[in-house]
Amino acid sequence: MWLFSQNRYSIDGKVVLLTGALGAIGKALTRMLIEKGAKVAMVDICDYEKGKEISEQINQQLGQPITKYIQADLQKKDNLEKIVSWSVEQFGHLDILINNAGIASPAMLYEDEMFDRIAAILDINLRAPIETTRIFVRYLRENSLQGVVINMASLGGIMPNRGGEVYGAVKAALIHLTRASKSLYPSVRVSAIAPYYVKTPMVLENPKLKNNSTVYPELMLDIDQVCKATVRCIEDTGSAGKTFALIGRFTYLQVRLFDFAALHVKIVALWSLLVTFVLKLLRLK
Ligand SMILES: NC(=O)c1ccc[n+]([C@@H]2O[C@H](COP(=O)([O-])OP(=O)(O)OC[C@H]3O[C@@H](n4cnc5c(N)ncnc54)[C@H](O)[C@@H]3O)[C@@H](O)[C@H]2O)c1
Repeated sequence: MWLFSQNRYSIDGKVVLLTGALGAIGKALTRMLIEKGAKVAMVDICDYEKGKEISEQINQQLGQPITKYIQADLQKKDNLEKIVSWSVEQFGHLDILINNAGIASPAMLYEDEMFDRIAAILDINLRAPIETTRIFVRYLRENSLQGVVINMASLGGIMPNRGGEVYGAVKAALIHLTRASKSLYPSVRVSAIAPYYVKTPMVLENPKLKNNSTVYPELMLDIDQVCKATVRCIEDTGSAGKTFALIGRFTYLQVRLFDFAALHVKIVALWSLLVTFVLKLLRLK
């Protein structure tokens, strides 16, 4: 039973631009989207031959040209324009953008995080999603189309995490961007997924996460859980501006704390305005 909204957005026949498509989550997500009837424009920085081989394997298994691969470095501005126009050229249209590419922060805050590494985390995890979404929104507007954007955030963007301070700060910004992007709805529905650690090389091979007190192996997610939640988020027409946290067995928790904080600030601001107004009135008398 579908509990989250009455109308379900259908993925069948849609074209998806997926960044980080050759990563652990990206590869599994490509397959799940295809099972749902989508065509996938796969984008990654990895070698063209490697990407083409993976894309062709999928096409051969399914007997249809439903994926295509383009090698692109998301740190390069021209590539961000190119991946959107290339996806449209290859498949005729574009409906869904998944900003999934990301790099982790392997260093402790103020210890050995290097300037270039911080720049790369900001560029790939935040600037590329902002810029690609901007280009996608412009494409949708120019063609009077509607679209969906999913930002792959992290639970580290909600709860501070020792060793992932810079990464967490950037993912928090992505979550806030998602909230602010609610204003684009209904023409563009933007939402985010915030997983806890996923059983991927990004986590399992990160030396800083070994013997780390914030890592609970029993709460770690399977890649499949993240893919299912992403698909569910695309299909959920009530997801605009929302972020869904995934941890342990709970894989579609709506994050409310930012909304509560905003409500708190609004109440305090109203109270402050009221007091100022009353004081002015009293002085007039
Ligand atoms: N693995 C986890 O535990 C976890 C938890 C929460 C959120 N996430 C997020 O999920 C997303 C996918 O993570 P993953 O575990 O599959 O990681 P991954 O490292 O397996 O995949 C990331 C992909 O992004 C690509 N990429 C990196 N830099 C790029 C660039 N400059 N241009 C284009 N592509 C680039 C990589 O080549 C890689 O294929 C990331 O945004 C990550 O922050 C992961």
